[in-house]
Amino acid sequence: MNFHIMTLFPEMIDECLGTSITGRAVKNGYISINAVNIRDYTLDKHNKVDDYTYGGGAGMLMQAQPVYDCYKAIEKKLVSEKKPRVIYVTPQGSVFDQKMAQDFAQEDDLVFLCGHYEGIDERVLEEIVTDYVSIGDYVLTGGELPAMVMVDAIARLVPGVLNNHDSALTESFHDNLLEYPQYSRPEEWMGKKVPEILLSGDHAKVDKWRLEQSIERTKERRPDLYEKWLEDHPPVPEKKTLRRHKRKQSLTDKEQTD
Ligand code: ADE
Repeated sequence: MNFHIMTLFPEMIDECLGTSITGRAVKNGYISINAVNIRDYTLDKHNKVDDYTYGGGAGMLMQAQPVYDCYKAIEKKLVSEKKPRVIYVTPQGSVFDQKMAQDFAQEDDLVFLCGHYEGIDERVLEEIVTDYVSIGDYVLTGGELPAMVMVDAIARLVPGVLNNHDSALTESFHDNLLEYPQYSRPEEWMGKKVPEILLSGDHAKVDKWRLEQSIERTKERRPDLYEKWLEDHPPVPEKKTLRRHKRKQSLTDKEQTD
């Protein structure tokens, strides 16, 4: 997976995503992170990339030309021949979630566009952007942090990036459930004991306990997610009712054969 990030602050991206797990993934060749400075593409002799907005209003706007030329330069470096998804990170976008991360993780190339000042000239957005995505209902000073949040969430779903790929399946948000509580050594800390069942060695019982904990935790902390989970896992009718239903059914079958 190749991430291309159009930004006025490439050093922010390199510094942050070059560290920890994403940094290791780059070194090991599972992902590449190509932060491109939009300013390198301006035709202005003073290296300006912004100007006043038509119609008045406070603040400056990023101009179309440097953004477009930056994008065209990236296009030449793409692995795939098809038009890439170009994500404009903006508080006006759909709110990013784990499902979106999974969807984006299927791509070979992803292009992010980070805005600054009061935004970007609408005409270049219409020309190149395929997805408008926000990280939540609040406004940040620029698009770099949201872009990095998304790159991190997507990168860890790329096979090989996490040492143990299993952990991407069992963690929070898988199947709309939050992750169960976890414990490490010592067995007792500040008078609090690790739940007995986790020491039992009975894997089936541990799995059952963890699922119950996940359900409980989701119900308590994220009732919105719990509702979604319930829709996919409607309560099974109680055995008693089932048995009665079956008996009724066999009686009617009997009546019909008699
Ligand atoms: N740019 C500024 N605020 C943002 C947000 N909440 N999400 C995405 N991009 C942004």
